Amino acid sequence: MQAYHEIYAEAQQDPEGFWLEQAQRLAWFKQPTVGATLKKNGMADWFPDGELNVSYLALDAQVEAGRGEQTALIYDSPVTGNVQTYSYRELLDEVAKFAGVIQSMGVGKGDRVIIYMPMIPQAAIAMLACARVGAIHSVVFGGFAAHELAIRIDDAEPALLLTASCGIEGKKTLAYKPIVDKALKEAEKPPQNVIVFQREQETATLQSGRDHDWQQLMQHAEPVAAVPVASTHPLYILYTSGTTGRPKGVVRDHGGYAVALNFSMNYVYGLQPGEVFFTASDVGWVVGHSYIVYGPLIFGCTSILYEGKPVNTPDAGAFWRVIEQHKVTAVFSAPTAFRAIKKEDPKADYLKRYDIGSLQRIYMAGERLDPATYEWTTEVTGRPVYDHWWQTESGWPMCANPVGVGATPVKPGSSSLPVPGYEIAVLDTAGKPLPAGEEGSICVRLPLPPGCLPTVWGDEQRLRDSYLKAFPGYYCSGDGGYIDKDGYVFIMGRTDDVINVAGHRLSTGEMEEILAAHPEVAECAVVGTPDDLKGELPIGLVILKNEADIDPGQLQSDLVQTIRDKIGAIACLKTLYVVPKLPKTRSGKILRRLIRQLLLREDVAIPSTIDDPNSIAAIQQSIEQQSKASHR
Ligand code: COA
Ligand code: AMP
Repeated sequence: MQAYHEIYAEAQQDPEGFWLEQAQRLAWFKQPTVGATLKKNGMADWFPDGELNVSYLALDAQVEAGRGEQTALIYDSPVTGNVQTYSYRELLDEVAKFAGVIQSMGVGKGDRVIIYMPMIPQAAIAMLACARVGAIHSVVFGGFAAHELAIRIDDAEPALLLTASCGIEGKKTLAYKPIVDKALKEAEKPPQNVIVFQREQETATLQSGRDHDWQQLMQHAEPVAAVPVASTHPLYILYTSGTTGRPKGVVRDHGGYAVALNFSMNYVYGLQPGEVFFTASDVGWVVGHSYIVYGPLIFGCTSILYEGKPVNTPDAGAFWRVIEQHKVTAVFSAPTAFRAIKKEDPKADYLKRYDIGSLQRIYMAGERLDPATYEWTTEVTGRPVYDHWWQTESGWPMCANPVGVGATPVKPGSSSLPVPGYEIAVLDTAGKPLPAGEEGSICVRLPLPPGCLPTVWGDEQRLRDSYLKAFPGYYCSGDGGYIDKDGYVFIMGRTDDVINVAGHRLSTGEMEEILAAHPEVAECAVVGTPDDLKGELPIGLVILKNEADIDPGQLQSDLVQTIRDKIGAIACLKTLYVVPKLPKTRSGKILRRLIRQLLLREDVAIPSTIDDPNSIAAIQQSIEQQSKASHR
């Protein structure tokens, strides 16, 4: 604990000195001499006079340091029966050539490139190739539907879109190209060029003039070197759900991000270069950006890119098999993945078939690690299990166990201690810091450390409105929780309309906007309710228009399908109730907490601000009738 407190204090007392020292561990083209410049909004630009390139750090610098023959990336794909390894030298060659491909299409510094790809090595190659030429990538998770892709295209205005012919979800082959075509039709600012990686499971039809074949282009490609970019140059935009239908484009820079990730690889994950890190997530999420692609490679580890699920590909022993086969040192996934394994294999019989001797630690994030899942995973694996808290916006952990400098005792339900650089405060509604043990809004005192979002793409005002306005001088995380007397942070859930379904961050506000657009719907509300496997599941209440002429069952399946079509199957909105009224305050605010209580059949304390106390019984009655009917 002493080492933790010393390092934390050092970063707090002299942030610029602390992070400049960390920055020296990387191969800059131009070493920074200034730690940070403060902006008017309280945020910082990190290493403003430094120049580097993250693709160079992840590849060229590793080869130059003697890691050319070390495995950089292991593509492990139980869904196709493939395992393919890339040494650092091989990955560098592929990335440099693909950078040549995109450069020959006119893509350069500052241009945006959308990457809509499944979990294949070409996704990582595409990201690193964009970084190499100074282009800004924006990876869109393959589970999102065409409409979501179109929204992101219109916001990023890309010069190029990269995709593959299909994704493979368990036993299903999902054609990507029709989704891309539909999105390009819907988008107002589509890119001029599309490059398609043809997988053997599906051949996409290419539109002449616009679409190009990845493999053919690579045959004639010339490798290109990494271009130096300013530390503050954007590396990527990653869209994340806010409270409305318009996702926020979280921007990440090259310099601050590289320094923060490099620091975290040992400090948080306790890893050494050469060790194997298995992050079972998707490159479409921030976890995939930071700890499948950039973090492990910048630090010289071997990273696993896993195209499969925790269960059913082929069974609940999937993770243990990967750990044995590739001698994994640390594994990281979402609690929902371990809950899925526990559900299928409660006694961990599959685990007994594998030798997981190489495994030292297990990490979870994306949602709160519930104590039951923590206990089970610890017990069956005999390994330390660490919860850690972060967001798309931070890009790397804000709270974690300081494993690299000496692990501290784990408290189940807590994501442990603030990471150096993050001064976490729990504030009441008036912005006053709360004493230990009291629950409030989890905030971070400004300026944020390196690695965190410098802005929202094309919308500085949204940065202020979403994160900086609520509590002046602080970044508001949108999460609620408390800090105990030992300084351990407990994140208890969101304070806004964002929900977390199987580790996927989704907006109930966006679902409401889509439902409300249905011609028969007058009003609606969507709330998150607890689910044993996925953490949370959305449930909707809808009110029909007076003149509506539709069978409620038909409406329900129409609405479920609309959400799948617009957002994607990952939204998992499967339950909807038609109700006569929504519970509201007299000023018209929907009482979502009360809706949640009604859905969970909890005792309802009717607030004095409610506009119509009699509506509760009528809503309860319709929910009961419809859920009985659906169980028949
Ligand atoms: N592309 C296309 N469709 C996708 C997809 C993708 N990348 N990912 C999920 N989907 C679809 C699924 O096929 C499913 O469709 P269906 O309703 O037609 O069957 C739907 O979205 C829901 O998928 P999912 O939430 O993954 O549920 P599941 O029941 O198939 O699997 C888990 C449950 C827990 C095994 C799975 O959610 C999981 O592995 N979660 C871990 C998530 C994670 O790693 N999050 C990253 C944060 S660290
Ligand atoms: P995302 O931006 O998709 O990574 O989602 C971030 C959100 O997930 C956070 O704001 C939290 O609500 C939740 N979250 C992530 N990690 C944790 C954790 N360890 N404990 C509790 N909530 C978490």
